[in-house]
Amino acid sequence: MSLWAGRFESGAESADQHFRRYNDSLRFDLRLLPQDVRGSIAWARALARAGVLTDAEVETVEAGLQDVLGRFIDSPADAIATGEEDVHSFVESQLVARIGDLGKKLHTGRSRNDQVATDLRLFCLEQCQGVISDLRALQRSLVDLGVREIETVIPGYTHLQRAQPVLFGHWCLAYVEMLERDAARFNDARRRMNLCPLGAGALAGTAFDIDRAAVARDLGFDGPTRNSLDTVSDRDFVLEMLAAATTAALHLSRWAEDLILYVSGEFAFITVGDAHATGSSMMPQKKNPDALELIRGKTGRIFGAHASLSMTIKGLPMAYNKDLQEDKEPLFDAIDTLRDSLQIASDLTPGLQLDASRSRRCAELGYANATDLADHLVEQGVPFRDAHAIVGRIVRLAMSRSVPIEELPINELRDIEPRIDPGIRDRISLEAVLARRATVGGTSPQQVRAALDDAASRLEGSVA
Ligand code: ARG
Repeated sequence: MSLWAGRFESGAESADQHFRRYNDSLRFDLRLLPQDVRGSIAWARALARAGVLTDAEVETVEAGLQDVLGRFIDSPADAIATGEEDVHSFVESQLVARIGDLGKKLHTGRSRNDQVATDLRLFCLEQCQGVISDLRALQRSLVDLGVREIETVIPGYTHLQRAQPVLFGHWCLAYVEMLERDAARFNDARRRMNLCPLGAGALAGTAFDIDRAAVARDLGFDGPTRNSLDTVSDRDFVLEMLAAATTAALHLSRWAEDLILYVSGEFAFITVGDAHATGSSMMPQKKNPDALELIRGKTGRIFGAHASLSMTIKGLPMAYNKDLQEDKEPLFDAIDTLRDSLQIASDLTPGLQLDASRSRRCAELGYANATDLADHLVEQGVPFRDAHAIVGRIVRLAMSRSVPIEELPINELRDIEPRIDPGIRDRISLEAVLARRATVGGTSPQQVRAALDDAASRLEGSVA
């Protein structure tokens, strides 16, 4: 049954087959079936309040809609086989098939334009919540890993050159922070999209006596949207979600890239558990971090979804245009992809095994304590610039012997610079170097422990 064939002399059946396939969206927007049914039930109630339907009719409509949902929610192929144009016409024709002419009254005063905007907002609201809880799960596994590896030291890098030692837990917490901002962005998007389009009609509002505030309340929205033209053409809420998804994916990609480096033979600080690695068909010795590479790689399509919808929206004249049907596939794909990546990241994290003695040795051999030796000389009254040069010479000597500074004999150190304290070893040990980074946000064990505790209790209290 076509929703609109009346205007056409030869009926909807005259539509070109290629064009119909091009135009139809049921194969992907069927995903909005639960939202379409929810929105339709709320609309039926609003029609009753407006005196268009009786209470008994609303009950029949509601039961019919629930029946449609129940019949097709787990049988998408059956739904698509009906050949209906989109989820809205599908639900309506199924309703009419069940309850007869009464079903034809449901679309009174409503347009697919405010309907689809409502369905999509309901979908996005739910998915924001879902993404936030996925982000929380990953944060939790990172905090757990940081706690488990509380003694583990890795070299910290700038320019991908060893710079200063950091606790591995500090690295974990860096990503916990990024994901915290991601959760906040989804939450913020959620707050702004929580307004109800129903009653905006096709573009100008509805001529029936609809209490828009009541429909909004019925569906759990904060209130109705304010301008009907804007309402049917607005997809900012999708764009905002895709922007938040892109930023989250960029964070995941950086996380994956760090781990890909750390599991390489050159770094060899970490191994990925067998459950999340693959082998090579040719090279028997290989164990590849495919899961991490895919997390990094999938960032491209999430960013692509944002770019795609931005281009779709650019230059659209007021108000609804069919171009907007192109919002759904990128949205669904990006959110599914992000949620899959978050899930894989959470699952993979507890299986990471650290080689703490190797990463510690790399931190030492990176001369990560050179700054601290220079700082010591400064305390002995050496101007920093001179201290810098002296320590540079000491580092060269240590490098020529492939040992860390603290393994050079103390007399040789004091030959180079007599003001070096005989107890210097303790002062520039990794432990001492770490312990000195004790300001808020620093990598001292005391700070990292406190930050892990703090993150753990914040996560415990978080709703999602
Ligand atoms: N399938 C359409 C979409 O996704 C539903 C709205 C259609 N509205 C219309 N006036 N043709 O946007």
